[in-house]
Amino acid sequence: MLNSLKNNLLVQYTAISFVVVLLFTLFLGTVISRKVTDHLIKTHTRVFPFVVHNIIGNHPEAYEFFQEPPGSTLPGTMERFLNELTEFGAIFRVKVWGPDGTILWSNDPTLVGQNFRDNANFLQAMLGEVETSVKLPQKAENQSEQGHGEVLEIYTPVTRGGQVVGVVELYESDRDLFIQIGKNARTVWEQVLSAGAVLYLLLFAIFFRSHRLQKKSTFQLIETQQVTISALAYQAEIHDLETGFHLDRTTRYLQILAEALAQRPEHKKILPPEVVSDMIKSSPLHDIGKVGVSDAILRKPGKLNEEEMREMQQHCEYGAAILKHAENKLSFQSFLSRAAELVLYHHEKWNGTGYPYGLKGEAIPLGARIMALADV
Ligand SMILES: [Fe+2]
Ligand SMILES: [Fe+2]
Repeated sequence: MLNSLKNNLLVQYTAISFVVVLLFTLFLGTVISRKVTDHLIKTHTRVFPFVVHNIIGNHPEAYEFFQEPPGSTLPGTMERFLNELTEFGAIFRVKVWGPDGTILWSNDPTLVGQNFRDNANFLQAMLGEVETSVKLPQKAENQSEQGHGEVLEIYTPVTRGGQVVGVVELYESDRDLFIQIGKNARTVWEQVLSAGAVLYLLLFAIFFRSHRLQKKSTFQLIETQQVTISALAYQAEIHDLETGFHLDRTTRYLQILAEALAQRPEHKKILPPEVVSDMIKSSPLHDIGKVGVSDAILRKPGKLNEEEMREMQQHCEYGAAILKHAENKLSFQSFLSRAAELVLYHHEKWNGTGYPYGLKGEAIPLGARIMALADV
């Protein structure tokens, strides 16, 4: 059951294309929703660096503060501004970082003097870039920011004459922003997944149609092959005295014997379904060589004399030669090579008294042995 599923081209294609389209959709959804979120945050935070620069830029004494030891008194205007920032929007924490990663000032005084020089966002901001990150605050420096849920951290470098002198960091807990981020992501995923589903169905429809057409033409080809075999076999039979559906009956016997034998453990390997099917296809051809034997012999009512018998016996070799001739015209190995073997040896006998070679026992190919039994 599992094997036939594995061999079914349609099932294989359905599974493989599903996995490929799913992976592609997941990749696309992740990339686009990340880009949309980044864009929203960038738009949202664009104003903060301007605010910070304008205030500090207007008060040159503020730059001196970044060189002073932690806990030094903030210049008055800067302190007023930073305190006001915490009332601006959803900002709840402000940190002023010195260039070595020490917190010089914060609206949480317990942080002042602590050093977090390994903070990756801080280090990036010290290179002159505005850094943002959205997450649950979990870093070493975030003891006092937990409990606000997801927060947006904005690290703004403070520059003087092209040199970064420190960083102002703002923490924002903006519910509306996060709701919007969630909504946008949901919309992106809905659209990407719908597009993925449509793509998958389209691919499936195309494949299903071509698979059906291909199956139909394969079926027609097999049918044509069977009819050709029947016609060939009938051509030999028509000269013969054998009566009443001999070819049909022998084929049916061969099928019953071969299928029963194939069930036995010791024959399972040498009689796989494709070998049995080749044997069934070959069976009607077993006497095809009789086209080479004269009608007078074939239709002689009485016993054949020795010479006539010798000619009659040649039908095995004639038949094998006809099939080998046909096989040589093909560019692939077909059932004809098995058929030729079956035709050549189907009058051999287990005890060695058969013809054309007098082979004995297992020296006679298995297919020919089964054919001989069915024929008799
Ligand atoms: Fe025969
Ligand atoms: Fe026969």
